[in-house]
This record gives sequence, C-alpha cells and structure tokens, in this order.
Amino acid sequence: MERVEILISREQVLERVKELAKKIEEDYKGEELVCVALLKGSFIFFADLVREIKSPVQIDFMNVSSYGNASETSGVVRILKDTDADISGKNVLLVEDIIDTGYTLEYVKKFLSNKGAKSVKCVSLLDKPERRKIDIPIEYVGFEVPDKFIVGYGIDYAQKYRNLPYIAVVLFD
Ligand code: IMP
Ligand code: MG
Repeated sequence: MERVEILISREQVLERVKELAKKIEEDYKGEELVCVALLKGSFIFFADLVREIKSPVQIDFMNVSSYGNASETSGVVRILKDTDADISGKNVLLVEDIIDTGYTLEYVKKFLSNKGAKSVKCVSLLDKPERRKIDIPIEYVGFEVPDKFIVGYGIDYAQKYRNLPYIAVVLFD
C-alpha cells in the first residue's frame, strides 16, 4: 500500500490561487473570458480560482483522455467531452491540474484554436518542468513540483486522493 506526504498546504494553495486570479483579472480587463476546466483533475482548483476572479467569466468543461501507459502519455489525445458553448471568437483560459509532458495541453490548445477561439491560454496549478517533452508556453503556473507522483486537491492516483484538501506526494514503499 502506498502512503502520501504533504507537499503544499491548503493555505499555500489558496494564497497562490488568489494571486493567479488577480493576475488573470488584470490581463483580461475589459475582455470576455471563458474559463474551461479540463476534468477531472482540475475541478477543485477551478472552483477556487473562478470564485477569486471578481470580473464576469463564463465557465465550461472539457474531458480528454490520453493513450499511453500508466506513467506516461503517448501524445495521442482523445476528446471525450467538448465544451458546451461555441468558443469561436472567445478568449479561452484552459484550467489544468498539472502539466507533465505537455502533450495534452498542446493538443487541446490546437483543438480550440482550430475551432476559432480568439485566444487560448492556460493556467495550471502545477508544473513538472523536468518531464516536459513539448516546449509549450504555460501562461500561468501555480507551483513547480518535482518529478514525483502528485495527488490531492482534485488530482488522483488510480482515482484515489482527489478529496485531499492539500497537495501531496505518493510514496510507494
Ligand atoms: P501531459 O499530457 O503529460 O502533460 O499530462 C498531463 C496530465 O497527466 C495531467 O493533466 C494529469 O491528469 C496527469 N498527470 C501528470 N502527472 C501527474 C501526477 O503526478 N499525478 C496525477 N496525475 C498526473
Ligand atoms: Mg489532467
């Protein structure tokens, strides 16, 4: 059985979420913005983030899956659920839990751009830069994390630990 060790506390996360929301609010001042959560991992981050953005935003959800083995995505991404609303002509802010290889983000950014979005940017709560395979910009990052298996605050290991109120590392011993 694995165990988890706290990496980033709930207080630290909420503090950072406020800072990100403030920056996003300033950058999109006077512009229409659609925040799109990539399910499931970003659901808690998304709910906290949009509540800290004080200007009006639309919200929408996507779900994607990536083929590959358990520890690495292959770059082949499948759209399981597209946004409900038409995003053509809209500024889209993708809300991600964690960027690893970058394959998922690259695919989804292209997908939304091809559908005519005015702009597509990304805010990711976590970034694992050591694992990056694709050089892709992430406009807003909450925290850089080491190359370890991360869970909590929406993020899972085999569908477990999403409900942890903090971010933790899984230890297999
Ligand atoms: P990428 O396409 O390799 O960047 O994969 C990103 C996705 O892989 C994230 O949105 C997560 O769903 C998943 N992922 C990557 N690293 C972790 C981790 O440490 N814990 C849980 N899920 C992860
Ligand atoms: Mg994800």
